[in-house]
Amino acid sequence: MNWLSLIKQDHKGIEQAFNKCLKCTDFGELGPLLKELSVLLARHSKAEEASVYTSLAQYGFKEGANELWEEQDHAGQVDSEIMRMYKDKDSLRSIHRTIQTLKNEVLVHAISHEEKDYFPKLMEKLSPMENEELLKLYKENYYAT
Ligand SMILES: [Fe+2]
Repeated sequence: MNWLSLIKQDHKGIEQAFNKCLKCTDFGELGPLLKELSVLLARHSKAEEASVYTSLAQYGFKEGANELWEEQDHAGQVDSEIMRMYKDKDSLRSIHRTIQTLKNEVLVHAISHEEKDYFPKLMEKLSPMENEELLKLYKENYYAT
């Protein structure tokens, strides 16, 4: 598996975690699901930033890297806002609305900007060995705590 297929798989996992939160109608059960989503988003963002974004910036896609960084940063802020809403016991309806907004934002970022735009361009520019290295780096950072 190359780094792009692994990342696509992680994006699918994130989408599923969003769907679980959106389907959940029990306030008590939503807490652990939000936590799970939050952990997935944080791990994935950290790994991508330390590997692929850094590589994009090094290989002539500095603007793209900055754009992705900003989007990811914003997603992190919205995720923190959702956690705050949950702690403050906001209505399930307004929490769901914010989760849906974040899901849309994250999917545009992950699919339109990463999977279909910058990531294939980067992959094409790297040698097979550099692509191997990137896969290793992504995995290492994903599991680093
Ligand atoms: Fe991503």
